[in-house]
Amino acid sequence: MMKGDSRILPADALVIFGATGDLAHKMIFPALYAMVKRGVLKVPVVGVAASAWSLAQLRKQARDSIRQAGKIDDRAALDHLLTLLRYVGGDYNNPDTFKTLKQALGAAQRPAHYLAIPPALFPTVIKGLGDAGLADQARVIVEKPFGRDLASARELNRIALSVFEEDAIFRIDHYLGKEAIMNILYFRFANSFLEPIWNRNHIASIQITLAEDFGVKGRGKFYESAGCLRDVIQNHLFQVVALLAMEPPAYQGYGAVHCEKAKVFQAMRPLQADDVVRGQYAGYRQEPGVAKRSDVETFCALRLFIDSWRWEGVPWYLRSGKCLAATAAEVLVELKPPPQRLFDDSAPVAGRANYLRFRLSPNAAVALAARVKRAGKEFVGDQRELFLLDEQAGEETPYARLLSDAMAGNGALFTREDAIEAAWAVVDPVLETHARAYAYTPGSWGPKQADGLIAADGSWHNPMLAQTAK
Ligand code: BG6
Repeated sequence: MMKGDSRILPADALVIFGATGDLAHKMIFPALYAMVKRGVLKVPVVGVAASAWSLAQLRKQARDSIRQAGKIDDRAALDHLLTLLRYVGGDYNNPDTFKTLKQALGAAQRPAHYLAIPPALFPTVIKGLGDAGLADQARVIVEKPFGRDLASARELNRIALSVFEEDAIFRIDHYLGKEAIMNILYFRFANSFLEPIWNRNHIASIQITLAEDFGVKGRGKFYESAGCLRDVIQNHLFQVVALLAMEPPAYQGYGAVHCEKAKVFQAMRPLQADDVVRGQYAGYRQEPGVAKRSDVETFCALRLFIDSWRWEGVPWYLRSGKCLAATAAEVLVELKPPPQRLFDDSAPVAGRANYLRFRLSPNAAVALAARVKRAGKEFVGDQRELFLLDEQAGEETPYARLLSDAMAGNGALFTREDAIEAAWAVVDPVLETHARAYAYTPGSWGPKQADGLIAADGSWHNPMLAQTAK
């Protein structure tokens, strides 16, 4: 289902705009090293950035970054990666930078240009590539955030599509490269037992929590321009919703998956102010780069509806935040309780009804919870989880996976223009129109107002407490 088109030729060079930056240092060099080790990266890698660095400096940066990310366990692969590197320094507004890049690319015909740069520079670089003739037969890999609202996403799509074809544009959402998230698609459509219950008749609600126990980690300036809703909900969590909510794809091919996912976003009801609770952890305003009176949210909880035949009336609760009580991400699909209360401990009185739990991070797990009777005279029991999968994260990081796919021309794990715009249309009404963010204590589960949001349908499920069923 997720295979690429084998007729597409692989990229014969990788260009990294923003090669001296933070993202390159933290994520990209370790990913390149992993790709060389696996034998999937053999082509020149050209780093581009504004700084007047030498190639030796870039090599040193690459080595340091790989060392910081983990043990160097394959010296030959590291040396090979260092020999693949080239460096071009220059202003992105200056056409000469792109001329120099063209020279550095030498005989390469089909470069993949990866924009690991601040989003404000995406249009400049995309146009620069087009003007320099560096877009023919090439692909562009665009980091998130793709736009900051519906209008800017449309404009960015317009610019990107004026230079590249849609199938040459790879919009990154690194969540799609995570093993546990790929497994949602597989689990849903490789099994038949799920389909009869996977709808409004049997599912009471679905909730997704992405919790982090750390703050903005020096990214205060970026966070001030984004906030939690833009940073992780409109993209990462919405992608998870789409995989959980989509209809079966009509054929084996990723185009079909993209179509079904886009329909989910199109069926989502645009959010209203009272669907959203925003929070800000105490101490955020003292972070470097943050305004003293900032109202930017570091926590966001929302209630969402998908107006489709399958999901009519089923509430989806999404929640994410920084400085929460744990670092973990989980989905809880809560089923409806039996229609008759035959036992004293039947739901909804005692605890949750049966559920399906997908743990997305730090490890991948899928568990199905059902009640079984305790030994003894009484008809009371416990909810027990049947583990279908319980794994530590696989070797391949999302970035290694996604960069390899983009270079091979496989767009399965990337997002499409229509889906991105439809997702922005859902959050657009509440980006500026909302209540003030409530303060919450670091180490908590966010402001108590978020409990009020979900109260009519139960309570939030906190991933940290999920190891044993309650
Ligand atoms: C990024 C956000 O896209 O995703 C970060 O910008 C967030 O703020 C991160 O911490 C979460 O992803 P992961 O893979 O670390 O869980």
